[in-house]
Amino acid sequence: MPQLLIRNVDPALKRWIEESSYDLRVAQWQFVVSQLRQVQRQRTGPTLFDMEKKPGPSLPQQGLPVRFVDLFAGIGGMRIGLERNGGKCVFTSEWDKNAQRTYRAWFGDLPHGDIREIASDSIPDHDILAAGFPCQPFSIAGVSKKKSLGREHGFRDVTQGTLFFHLAKIIEAKRPPVLLLENVKNLKSHDRGQTWNVIRGTLEDLGYTVHHKVIDAAGWVPQHRERVFIIGFDSAVFGPDLPFEFPSPPSAPSPRFRDILDPHPPEKYTLTDHLWGYLQRYAAKHQAKGNGFGFGMTDLDGVSRTLSARYYKDGSEILIPQGRGKNPRRLSPPEARRLMGFPDDLPIVVSDTQAYKQFGNAVVPLVVEAIGREIMRSITRHLIRTPNGCLLKRAGSTKR
Ligand SMILES: C[S@@+](CC[C@H](N)C(=O)[O-])C[C@H]1O[C@@H](n2cnc3c(N)ncnc32)[C@H](O)[C@@H]1O
Repeated sequence: MPQLLIRNVDPALKRWIEESSYDLRVAQWQFVVSQLRQVQRQRTGPTLFDMEKKPGPSLPQQGLPVRFVDLFAGIGGMRIGLERNGGKCVFTSEWDKNAQRTYRAWFGDLPHGDIREIASDSIPDHDILAAGFPCQPFSIAGVSKKKSLGREHGFRDVTQGTLFFHLAKIIEAKRPPVLLLENVKNLKSHDRGQTWNVIRGTLEDLGYTVHHKVIDAAGWVPQHRERVFIIGFDSAVFGPDLPFEFPSPPSAPSPRFRDILDPHPPEKYTLTDHLWGYLQRYAAKHQAKGNGFGFGMTDLDGVSRTLSARYYKDGSEILIPQGRGKNPRRLSPPEARRLMGFPDDLPIVVSDTQAYKQFGNAVVPLVVEAIGREIMRSITRHLIRTPNGCLLKRAGSTKR
């Protein structure tokens, strides 16, 4: 392999190369090349088309070998994105049996079940906690408006009984240096802003600096899919001002919807006359009332609407025109997989209905990959050597 001569380099930069390569247990030239590769990829950016060349989740990656846990894992969209940054998944929780089947087929791990029954001390130490948790309202009856941020009562009172409460308990016990959370776009307006206030207040009370942004996956895949991403950095590890920026979509031309379609899809995905007639009548009725409801006939050269977990019902939000004289069709499960940016070689091991639900619930791995890259960039200077295999998390450092 090539030898890299590092000459005329600023001494601080040279020290950084020496220390980082030592921490990562790679040769200095390997470290420099991996950094250059990352810069190159940042300039062109990964797109859907990279998936052809991109290794599957089990193949070698570049980046930082941080340890992460994948909670509310679904089919592992977070995991793929973090593994592509070099991350190593050390624990998974997902209780849905069908999602577990897919997860096992894709990653070889059977996820642990209900998060409410998992003892925090059974979760290994980790650098990053990733979770796409469901959005639930918090019942704060009896708590005055002033106190509604969870500050005076503490998160235990305010979030009690919710899935976020269990997540917060794990965060409190394990103190992962980095949090990567994902949720629906309307999290901020949910329950008139109260849900978001409690979530942010809780994370801040736990000592995390919180960044959040709604990101549309349409820059990476041909689908409008807006999700809020929340990043937390433990201020006890990074201080209060760790610089962090959310990624912009790649500068390469966005993929078009037609790029994810199969040329010869099975006939069974074409809508029956009965269903197509119903959808048209339903849309006309609502149009007459001035409502926007209706089916979504997708522009083949554009991007589709959001794939939802209810797509299996009638497929109405993403219909595919098939030319004059033929009813439109819905996406096949392999096309839904591609529309979400999951690689083609990940097998579909569940029924069509379950596959649509799983893809409709999932996060786009390319977006997580891009966010993961920004996280790695922010934390690089804080890496340490630890006996527990983590790059940030000191063994036994559960208290702040
Ligand atoms: C929005 S989905 C997350 C999808 C995931 N990010 C992906 O890429 O597939 C939320 C997941 O949380 C799971 N879930 C809900 N309640 C749970 C619980 N109590 N324990 C474990 N998993 C749970 C659901 O089954 C669902 O798959």
